[in-house]
Amino acid sequence: MNNTLIGTTFGSYFVIEHLGAGGMASVYRARRLPDNYQVALKILPLHLAANDTLRHRFLREAETAAHLQHPHILPLIDFGEEAGMPYLVMQYADGDTLEKRLESGPLPVADVVCILAEVAGALDHAHARGIIHRDIKPGNILFDDRGSALLADFGIARLMNADEHLTAAGGFLGTAAYASPEQCRGEELTPASDIYSLGVVLFEMLTGTLPFDGPTPLAIIHQHISEPVPNPLKHRPDLPLDITEVLRKALAKLPGIRYRSASAMSEAVRHALRELLGTQPLAENAPPIGPDPVFDKPPHSYSSPPPIPDRLLRDLAPQPPAPASQSSPEPAISPLLADVTAEPDRRAWLWMWLAVAAMLAAVVALIAFAILR
Ligand SMILES: Nc1ncnc2c1ncn2[C@@H]1O[C@H](COP(=O)(O)OP(=O)(O)OP(=O)(O)O)[C@@H](O)[C@H]1O
Ligand SMILES: [Mg+2]
Repeated sequence: MNNTLIGTTFGSYFVIEHLGAGGMASVYRARRLPDNYQVALKILPLHLAANDTLRHRFLREAETAAHLQHPHILPLIDFGEEAGMPYLVMQYADGDTLEKRLESGPLPVADVVCILAEVAGALDHAHARGIIHRDIKPGNILFDDRGSALLADFGIARLMNADEHLTAAGGFLGTAAYASPEQCRGEELTPASDIYSLGVVLFEMLTGTLPFDGPTPLAIIHQHISEPVPNPLKHRPDLPLDITEVLRKALAKLPGIRYRSASAMSEAVRHALRELLGTQPLAENAPPIGPDPVFDKPPHSYSSPPPIPDRLLRDLAPQPPAPASQSSPEPAISPLLADVTAEPDRRAWLWMWLAVAAMLAAVVALIAFAILR
């Protein structure tokens, strides 16, 4: 099917090129008719669409994902069914996938922190709405033309059960590397499963290698379930020791031991890498640096003016008018006005003293006149 659709119209979309194929669907770049808006079209092939359960779940998951609106979640524009094939219409992402970026090795720590923060925000947003991604991996993290991360394929990439994945060529092999231990055992998933997968992505972004790898999906699954987390410093000795603790917590075998939210994990990573971040330039799209809600230590590695003391701020702030008091009906007078209003009082005192002095002088003059006579 990959090339047969190119140059044809599929529903209200004109198919331009084949972008790639994942575990279950093929993705095309297309233009919406009639406004020519560029989109990515994900089509479930006929042989999978023949499975009624799968088709219905594909559309149901799409409906759920369509409600997610977040700056770092790839927007789902439309979904439907055409010629018996269910399809999704997504925003077209101009940039590479994270998978592609990782082909050239580990990423600068500033990029790691930035990408992690963006994806963590997207995940927390979905988790808060009861949606679990189930397939967090670098292939599902795309970038737009400004380098901003976009999390794709919410809930839809893992519709088939593990057995079907194992039989789909290359399907489970790619994904097993990011699967949580409970996912490997086929258990019910919670948001903690996505946090584990994000921990694997973090390990890979920092070291350029997977924490658990092997020749077969079963070998990888076995490691997720029972092998301890390898030391990332073996691959990248310049990393601080603190990061090993963060990875150990993110990749804990028991879901209850992992970070409670993706953002808590992202903050812990930023804290662990704070010294390296101070020595490396921040990525262009780095999130704004602000007070750290987890560790309460705002970083000051950037050159900003020292904070204005509270006292000064209070003095500079415009003063609210004094509340009218019940016991003093007179209007409040500003200190400047008070000087002016005090002037007549001072003059009255002056006249009084002059009068007393004149009277004294007159008395002294009378006495002197009487003596001299
Ligand atoms: N919205 C998009 N914009 C641009 N390219 C995309 C988009 N969605 C997918 N692609 C491209 O199509 C390829 C296949 O995507 P697809 O989601 O089918 O596979 P996958 O992510 O590798 O596996 P999975 O089926 O587990 O999600 C991706 O690797 C990516 O290069
Ligand atoms: Mg995908």
